[in-house]
Amino acid sequence: MSTLDSLKAELLAAVQGAADAAALDAARVAALGKKGRLTELMKGLGSLDGEARKNQGQALNQIRQALEAALEARKSELDAAALDRRLATERIDVTLPARPDGRGRIHPLSQCAEEVTAIFGEMGFTVVDGPEIESDFNNFTALNMPLHHPSRDMQDSFYFEGKTPGTVAEEALVMLRTHTSNAQVRTMLKQKPPIRIVNTGRVFRRDYDATHAPMFHQIEGLVVDEKTHMGHLKGCLLEFCRAYFEVDDVSLQFRPSYFPFTEPSAEVDIGYSAKGGEMRFGGTEKWLEILGCGMVHPNVLRICGIDPERYQGFAFGMGLERITMLKYGIPDLRLMFESDVRWLRHYGFMPLDVPSLVGGLGQ
Ligand code: DAH
Repeated sequence: MSTLDSLKAELLAAVQGAADAAALDAARVAALGKKGRLTELMKGLGSLDGEARKNQGQALNQIRQALEAALEARKSELDAAALDRRLATERIDVTLPARPDGRGRIHPLSQCAEEVTAIFGEMGFTVVDGPEIESDFNNFTALNMPLHHPSRDMQDSFYFEGKTPGTVAEEALVMLRTHTSNAQVRTMLKQKPPIRIVNTGRVFRRDYDATHAPMFHQIEGLVVDEKTHMGHLKGCLLEFCRAYFEVDDVSLQFRPSYFPFTEPSAEVDIGYSAKGGEMRFGGTEKWLEILGCGMVHPNVLRICGIDPERYQGFAFGMGLERITMLKYGIPDLRLMFESDVRWLRHYGFMPLDVPSLVGGLGQ
């Protein structure tokens, strides 16, 4: 083999044996770079003459062309191998289900209403709806609060313009409901016992400070049957609190109270302890009021067409804001209604996170 033949073989071997792009470039520079071996030989052409120069020139050119072709071929091989490696590691399975768009959030109050409804639903309660614009009769009178009765002052009401008490006939009085108890009346007027219903929704009162908003939410429950008693009410609320606050040994305290539509009436406090600013439900260290309840007043049953000699009922009403704030550690009531998306992103729930007793409530 001539010197040139062996040089060609050597340079080609370096190119073909290059393991990656860097090695390939080094082989190129070693042959064709400014000080490459072939370049050096080319530079020497000037010192040859005539035929010898022509022959040498042609031979060197052939080597250069062979080298360039080899460089090109090796580069393609290396590129193809790199692509194969990338495809193997960055695999995408297009048959996987789409991820849910994580932007929308469910307001904690809506989530809470769903949770509460799921719990009572599991206990056998039916969900009913009551209107926010209500007659004074369904909101007050039928609940044992006749016109001008002082107990109406407990709930400062919004009447529609020109429809305030004393300015129109009693039948024409229309207002924004002050509590969800109107759903009790509407249900009893059209359904015979046994009755087991819950209703959640907006209610309205003339009130506004750090702990009161003119619009807030309640949940109302009503059970009417034969032989219904206070023990049923207690068991039902205990079971609810266990499920909702997710503590087994929840403690409740029934304090005697007054509501015109129940007799006897009670306010219920839940026991908790606070360590390092964090609330823990259970125990009897501190108490916090969460709801009002009682045995349905015989007058209410009678007004709604149910015989109080045969049937008894229990009822309860709870502020949704209060129990939502308690469960999820939300400090300020007013922020609930500010429509601030940053707040909602923080406290809100994923839309597919539907509460159920089976799937687990809350977070
Ligand atoms: N309606 C009452 C309120 O808004 C709450 C309430 C108390 C509802 C006792 C009831 C009940 O059904 O029995 O303050």
